[in-house]
Amino acid sequence: MPNVLITRIIPEAGLQPLRDACDVEQWQSDEAIPRETLLRMIADKDACIAMSTDRFDATLFDAAPRLKVVANFAVGYDNLDVPEATRRGIVLTNTPDVLTDTTADFAWALLMAAARNVPQGQEYVRGGNWTTWKPNLLVAPDIHHATLGIIGMGRIGREVARRAAGFRMNILYHNRRRDEDAEREFGATYCANVDDLFRAADFITVHAPISPETYHLVSDDAFALMKPRAVLVNTARGGVVDPDALYRALATQRIHAAGLDVTEPEPLPADHPLLSLPNCIVTPHIASASFKTRDDTTDLAVRNILAVLHGERPPTPINPDALGTKAE
Ligand code: GLV
Repeated sequence: MPNVLITRIIPEAGLQPLRDACDVEQWQSDEAIPRETLLRMIADKDACIAMSTDRFDATLFDAAPRLKVVANFAVGYDNLDVPEATRRGIVLTNTPDVLTDTTADFAWALLMAAARNVPQGQEYVRGGNWTTWKPNLLVAPDIHHATLGIIGMGRIGREVARRAAGFRMNILYHNRRRDEDAEREFGATYCANVDDLFRAADFITVHAPISPETYHLVSDDAFALMKPRAVLVNTARGGVVDPDALYRALATQRIHAAGLDVTEPEPLPADHPLLSLPNCIVTPHIASASFKTRDDTTDLAVRNILAVLHGERPPTPINPDALGTKAE
């Protein structure tokens, strides 16, 4: 039977088909597997279900001569060295689609909470400050009929756009490529130059992967262009936003608020300056954390692994070129 490593505790029900067909070893923890332990445990494995916190690079592949497939338990895969895996004939898979709606919902949760001062309201009440109704208390920008700027019109960006229709928003988007379907479907307007989006949007939400092109895309220059009551939301990857520039923008009220589910660094230390700001909401990378999505992600990762081990095309490969190329 093939040997499989699972690097974290994930929903057990979906793992049964894997347990039936393979010898499964699992890192029995909610904390990330230490690098040294991962290097040791991967040594005799044919397959691995990996978390986005596990780095799969040349050093790891060197330590795993039998490895045929890595099923990333995430849609993003910046933790995987794709060219290196492809060169070695190791198939990589991710989990698109199963988390799209769940993540789009959460982007909206952050957008609405940050815009409408929800955490500040809670602090205020818990602090015993609620003495009477006050017309000047926690006054906020409107969401309905405002302009939403979406950076990255992929699967998640499109679902965020779909939800915006209910708020009768005007939609701008920036993407590597123009997306005429999204323009037709959501009435979205393409900003080839992201600065046009920064200038015009009331709400800016990031759904682009991290890459040399998107690293610190939202920086001092971007904040300087934004409207004074702009709200920034990031549920993609922390590195797209320069945290020092964001601190300056929020601390000086250059923009109204931010909602971040991803940060640089991640995790964000409890004494990080951003956490001292009432207008900065930070959640611990939970946008995809719904019961159903966790189950569906497990099922998809298992189907990806079993397909590759059976010599079949997996449902969601990252590097299909690697299929069938591993020298035995
Ligand atoms: C989560 O961050 C993912 O990429 O699925």
